[in-house]
Amino acid sequence: MSTLTHIPVCTGSAAYEVVVGDGLLATTGERVAGVSDARRCALVTDVNVSALFGEAVSDSLRVAGFEVIGITVPTGERSKSWDSAGDVLEHLAQAGLDRTDLVVALGGGVVGDLAGFCAATYLRGVDYVQLPTTLLAQVDSSVGGKTGVDLTAGKNLAGSFKQPLLVLADIDVLASLPALEWQSGLAEVAKAAMLSGPGQVEWMTQNADALAARQPDAVREAVITAIEHKVDVVSADEREAGLRESLNYGHTLGHAIERVAGYGVVAHGVAVAEGMRFAALLASRLLDAPDATGEVQDAMLDALGIGRPAYPGDIDGLMTAMHSDKKARSGTVRFALVPEPGAYVARPVADDLLERELRAWIDTPDERG
Ligand SMILES: NC(=O)c1ccc[n+]([C@@H]2O[C@H](COP(=O)([O-])OP(=O)(O)OC[C@H]3O[C@@H](n4cnc5c(N)ncnc54)[C@H](O)[C@@H]3O)[C@@H](O)[C@H]2O)c1
Repeated sequence: MSTLTHIPVCTGSAAYEVVVGDGLLATTGERVAGVSDARRCALVTDVNVSALFGEAVSDSLRVAGFEVIGITVPTGERSKSWDSAGDVLEHLAQAGLDRTDLVVALGGGVVGDLAGFCAATYLRGVDYVQLPTTLLAQVDSSVGGKTGVDLTAGKNLAGSFKQPLLVLADIDVLASLPALEWQSGLAEVAKAAMLSGPGQVEWMTQNADALAARQPDAVREAVITAIEHKVDVVSADEREAGLRESLNYGHTLGHAIERVAGYGVVAHGVAVAEGMRFAALLASRLLDAPDATGEVQDAMLDALGIGRPAYPGDIDGLMTAMHSDKKARSGTVRFALVPEPGAYVARPVADDLLERELRAWIDTPDERG
């Protein structure tokens, strides 16, 4: 096993560590025992991840003395639902878990958000540990304590802030990720680079080939840098009163594209990258941002091989979707803008201006890069 990196997280409500490195999953039991006195733990995972890593993790937990209750949900976003949370909670209750016991989330962002939400609500809150197995979950969703499920009216509409006790980001597990999931994670790493500064954007652009080939040293460095950025943000603003909104960079239009196209039609990473490209245009219009900002961002996204989506073509639908995003305030859509790498401004954008820019953006693809 190579060197491990321990990243401390200290928010208003909790202090814990994110550990990044190789071979971590096999050491889950001893590491969890180091932070918890629980006797039992519910290991929540999805069908795919269970087949890949379920046995290794439950063996490790058992060897460390835990009684393990396995809970496996179907794969995909549909498991991040109210019904699915109900099933998991019923399972926890039937297994007789008490307040001193623990929930362990093994999987991508779906499992992490679902299991975290169940941990936040079961018996008014029990501890949980995150074992993120997608790039997106490692660099984004497992850190910062946002948990929740989707409602019929929209994504992530029911949830809670609940910080984990520990996060173990095992780089080895990323080798089996499907290409589209890899790209979705890379888009989040690219977002973090834009918010971090020019050095990170340059590094990403120069190491794009190594990242595409999942070269372990490059992947480790990218994961660590993106996590450190997220940790800085959530430590300063645990409950999204300000700076944390910056993490929405690229997601206002990105989520709308995913929703209007129908989930799964446009890959999350492609949608977010497109949202970042459009946000760069808004930054030049509204903040007089230099052209170089959009250019370096395009160069990074292109080098990473993140393409452009076919637009759903329904501008009214995109506008409605941006309005229903829970981050819209008082009826105005808000954008996280990056006038220069490392700088961040939140801006409400009036509907007439937004619609005009969006229409021009969609109708003149050549000007989009
Ligand atoms: N809580 C937060 O702060 C936050 C932040 C960003 C995103 N999210 C949420 O995260 C979710 C998306 O997460 P995701 O992209 O990880 O999706 P996911 O959890 O659905 O995982 C994607 C797919 O990869 C499979 N998989 C997972 N690990 C694997 C591995 N190592 N090898 C092979 N296959 C593997 C899964 O079974 C699934 O089919 C969304 O619901 C989103 O809202 C939450």
